[in-house]
Amino acid sequence: MNAPTTKPETAMIDPDDIGYNTTGNPLFSALIEARLTRRGLLRGGLATAGAAMLSSLSLTACGSSDDDDGEEEPSFRLSFDPVAHSVADALIVPAGYTASVLLRLGDPIAADVPAYRNDGTDDPATYDRRAGDHHDGMTWFGMGGNDRWAPEAADRGLLVQNHESLTPMYLHPRGRTVVDGKRSVAAEVDREMFLHGVSVVETVKDANGNWSYKQDSRFNRRVHTLTETILTGPAAGSAMMVTRYSRDGTRTRGTVNNCANGTTPWGTYLACEENWYGYFFRTPGADNPNRSAREVTGLTRYGVASSSFYGLWGTMSPDTPDQKYGRWDAHVKGDSAADDYRNAPNTYGWVVEIDPFTPDSTPRKRTALGRMGHEGAALGPVIAGKPLVWYQGDDARNEYFYKFVSARNWDPADATGGLAAGDKYMNEGTLYVARFNEDGTGEWIELSFGKNGITPDYAGYAFADQADVLIHTRLAGDAVGATKMDRPEWASVNPRTGDVYLTLTNNNKANRPIDKTDGPNPRFYNDAGNPNGHIVRLTDGGAPDATRFEWDVYLFGAPFDAPPDVNVSGLTKDNDFSSPDGLWFSEASPGLAWIQTDDGAYTQVTNCMMLAAVPGKVGDGERLTITNTAADGTQRQQATIVGAKPGQKGTQLTRFLVGPKGCEITGIAESGDGRAIFVNIQHPGENTADADIGDPSKFESHWPDGGNSRPRSATVVITRNDGGVIAV
Ligand code: FEO
Ligand code: CA
Ligand code: CA
Repeated sequence: MNAPTTKPETAMIDPDDIGYNTTGNPLFSALIEARLTRRGLLRGGLATAGAAMLSSLSLTACGSSDDDDGEEEPSFRLSFDPVAHSVADALIVPAGYTASVLLRLGDPIAADVPAYRNDGTDDPATYDRRAGDHHDGMTWFGMGGNDRWAPEAADRGLLVQNHESLTPMYLHPRGRTVVDGKRSVAAEVDREMFLHGVSVVETVKDANGNWSYKQDSRFNRRVHTLTETILTGPAAGSAMMVTRYSRDGTRTRGTVNNCANGTTPWGTYLACEENWYGYFFRTPGADNPNRSAREVTGLTRYGVASSSFYGLWGTMSPDTPDQKYGRWDAHVKGDSAADDYRNAPNTYGWVVEIDPFTPDSTPRKRTALGRMGHEGAALGPVIAGKPLVWYQGDDARNEYFYKFVSARNWDPADATGGLAAGDKYMNEGTLYVARFNEDGTGEWIELSFGKNGITPDYAGYAFADQADVLIHTRLAGDAVGATKMDRPEWASVNPRTGDVYLTLTNNNKANRPIDKTDGPNPRFYNDAGNPNGHIVRLTDGGAPDATRFEWDVYLFGAPFDAPPDVNVSGLTKDNDFSSPDGLWFSEASPGLAWIQTDDGAYTQVTNCMMLAAVPGKVGDGERLTITNTAADGTQRQQATIVGAKPGQKGTQLTRFLVGPKGCEITGIAESGDGRAIFVNIQHPGENTADADIGDPSKFESHWPDGGNSRPRSATVVITRNDGGVIAV
């Protein structure tokens, strides 16, 4: 037997970096040969089918006044001084603000759990009652005196958040143990399985304005990888959902890699399963011969192939009688699907609804919203008598943007309906995928069995029924020619305009080469594709169930000193950023947006950050031709549509926060009065070498506890020293 080894975390493949979309779906430059310059467009007009719609975009000619469009501008201005670039191991907020640590990795959330020692020796059996790792998307639910949801509440509420992943080096005495390619220490695997999922903690503000969480609240809860969940919607009960755990395919265990989040109009929380495929132990060479061609197509399209270190949970031996570890082994092993976990991957990749106000409720996976690398599920405008809509990014390179429209029209009487309202609005509806046209228009294309080429005759995959379409949503997107995007992350809807914003964090040159740019993904530079990312926005014209939209690129990430074809938005030292990921519109200050970064391309200049923005609206900018340059100096032009630059037409963008070393900033929520915001600092110090776990002087970060401590992901609460509303 080999000596125990620790697999180097730093060499691990980031699942986000993998693209599994090998279809020839359009990158619109391939469809439309037009090389329209901005000048030509303005002079000659738009001789395309989209001209009528484009006229409503209010495109402004160069030289026109910045504020002559008659549009109402936000009634506030950002009121804080910009935070400068920082590479310090510190969390920095503007002068006049205070950031306090609220909930860290491992903090106890039940009365009988001891404080976290944070040296890798804490008892694994306590981890189902501790805060998880890698804090991510979150929502703060105000709570009234009746212990029910009260959106306007400002002093007491349930903080519900995702714990996306782990930095395993810091979780065990000396990192992870792997022997002969297998996990061998049950305590390590148990910790890792419990630290994923969702936490619910009761938070309170005292008379002095200080926030804390209540360790013994009856509402505190962990949903983790062992928590039973109910499969609902059209794919529940499908033969493709049958496992040894649930022979009728209606249940599964747990949720994992919950990234961004979502909300409902009835006060429940949506946790979205992003890079779930890397957790399943499956060796294609051994398993594919035991699978049908259809199964292999599906598994390959989603990348279920043990590509990350989590994929070793299923190798832990001995297993438990309830297959706690073996349920992550997705190889065909038994006589039928009811005898093994070959279908377990099909029970992940969903939106999971959790009712935080009912601690003993069972989470429900909503299959009608499709299966993908779910970043989030952003609720659209809620209008009585109209359908509800959720916008969803699929975060992998060249994946798609989706929306789900409920079959039922919204009845405000359901605002207290809990999970039963979820059954009503989220189990029946229509899933659409976005196809962007070069002319600033786009279509939402229905993903329903029997429509738009989603049939048993589709050459790429023989669809069997609607359950199959939902389980293989990506293949349905392929079939209808959806637009490949530069990694769709968070979406959020501006309550002032109804515009839908989508962060596109970045893309590499393999997946976005210079000859495959298009209008909504227009940049190639630094011989690296689109390393700094951008933010697209679109409008459904106020109709949640619209099938046409108009789009522009709201903002491009870039270093402030990059050339104009890279720094297209004219960012300055006070607001430049790279790799937007989190994006969320405040409800307390309508029109105020927060942008968070998960960056690896600009970190020599600054750690990851959060910016405050006051955007305009779709069409407030101009048509533009960007000149992209390849490594050998050859150039190629790409027409696109850009939004007003920050500072134009009343729009604003200012850096509000910079995090400690090695972190990403992700997840934001606010109290009902907007006087406190909650922000997550994820994986500080993640770039420490595994071999250095015994030498704290070599840790990249010691945030938040300082000294020689191991770094910890944490939620901070940020308030203004004068008690005012944040940022405005
Ligand atoms: Fe988990 Fe796409 O960030
Ligand atoms: Ca994210
Ligand atoms: Ca991320």
